[in-house]
Amino acid sequence: MDYKVKDMGLADDGELLIEWARSHMPVLALIKRRFEEERPLEGVRLGACLHATKETAVLVKTLEAGGGEVFLCGSNPLSTNDEVAAALARDGTPVYAWRGQTTEEYYWCVNRVLDHGPMITMDDGADLVNTIHSSRTEIIDGVKGGSEETTTGVIRLRAMEADGALRYPIVAVNDTDTKYMFDNRYGTGQSTIDGILRATAVMLAGKTFVVGGYGWCARGIALRARGMGANVVVTEVNPLRALEAVMDGFRVMPMMEAARIGDIFVTSTGDINVVDGKHMEAMKDGAIMANSGHFNVEINIPALEKMSTGKRRLRPSLDEYRLKDGRRLYLLAEGRLVNLAAAEGHPSEVMDMSFADQALVAEWLWNGPRLEPRVYEVPGEIDATVARLKLEGMGVEIDKLTDEQERYLRSWKEGTV
Ligand SMILES: NC(=O)c1ccc[n+]([C@@H]2O[C@H](COP(=O)([O-])OP(=O)(O)OC[C@H]3O[C@@H](n4cnc5c(N)ncnc54)[C@H](O)[C@@H]3O)[C@@H](O)[C@H]2O)c1
Repeated sequence: MDYKVKDMGLADDGELLIEWARSHMPVLALIKRRFEEERPLEGVRLGACLHATKETAVLVKTLEAGGGEVFLCGSNPLSTNDEVAAALARDGTPVYAWRGQTTEEYYWCVNRVLDHGPMITMDDGADLVNTIHSSRTEIIDGVKGGSEETTTGVIRLRAMEADGALRYPIVAVNDTDTKYMFDNRYGTGQSTIDGILRATAVMLAGKTFVVGGYGWCARGIALRARGMGANVVVTEVNPLRALEAVMDGFRVMPMMEAARIGDIFVTSTGDINVVDGKHMEAMKDGAIMANSGHFNVEINIPALEKMSTGKRRLRPSLDEYRLKDGRRLYLLAEGRLVNLAAAEGHPSEVMDMSFADQALVAEWLWNGPRLEPRVYEVPGEIDATVARLKLEGMGVEIDKLTDEQERYLRSWKEGTV
């Protein structure tokens, strides 16, 4: 069997983790049952570059139940759960993933997935698509389509589309309502706090907690930090988003001002150097920095390294940097997604929706007509199905429009009475 993981001895523990995730993912369970009967992915090779977590394992099992053959690599050097990777490999899935990879090892794994000639690609950050288009162009003709899980990946793919560089169709799973409104907001919100607490165990109540950005992820983080009693400050570059933050009751100010008062800084913008060297120059002794955006560029780590005289690891995922003036600044999880690198990523319940979208999109892409090489929205019926099944799984019932209400909502003739 072809795979590369950290330690196969971890497989039993991984199996238990997957079982725990599965029991919180009812929508994927329903899809899996249908897939077992209908086998909509029979003979399809799926190349997946996704965070190798227990929830991803449940998705992999669902795709395999549909007849697909899944080849998996992690989508971040620090986000793989080694237990889960071992369990998947033991069960027959070709997995190339372990926690703590060098950049070289990371792309080695991406290339092993591509060696199998995927017919569908699944990305979280567009590294598969990017590698295929830059150095593995020989496999492009065999790829019918792909999907993208995260905001940063969609931004990269839309840039490729605008440049005329994209050579096969991609569905922007991130942009569908049942994904970003829940995964990005509530998933990132909870798991980012989880990551910060596991890495530091500090008290949040009473701390000044600075959130860089007020997009879908960042607003979830701000909301949850406030819930823990932190004084939350938001920084933004988009006036509309800044206004939303103000009206949601947060203090909004430039990062330069926030830098002077913050105890904890968290970025989730998809942008570069949101916390820059000049901000670190202004920070208080003991300030903690973390990132929950896709790439480790949101905190200027090279600048931090340059202004430091020494560095030591205090706890897993917690590095202390000593500056020339004696101040100490702390960086969590090497500036990589703190929720995945220092904790376990999003809760299974929310990944149930994102990965239900992924499974249904793979089925739709494979069984539909060949599409032009563009970035596509998730079909509305998939979104509606996932929302309906999720509510059912949670035991929540909602009202139905009456005939009278349907007529009323369609009509333009009725106004003031
Ligand atoms: N940690 C995770 O598990 C996880 C999950 C989903 C998405 N993501 C990633 O998180 C990032 C944010 O995703 P999103 O869906 O919230 O995106 P979004 O587009 O909804 O929000 C990004 C926000 O950041 C703001 N911004 C950009 N540059 C800024 C700057 N210099 N200072 C302050 N604000 C700035 C933008 O104006 C925007 O409001 C992306 O990289 C995405 O891929 C991470």
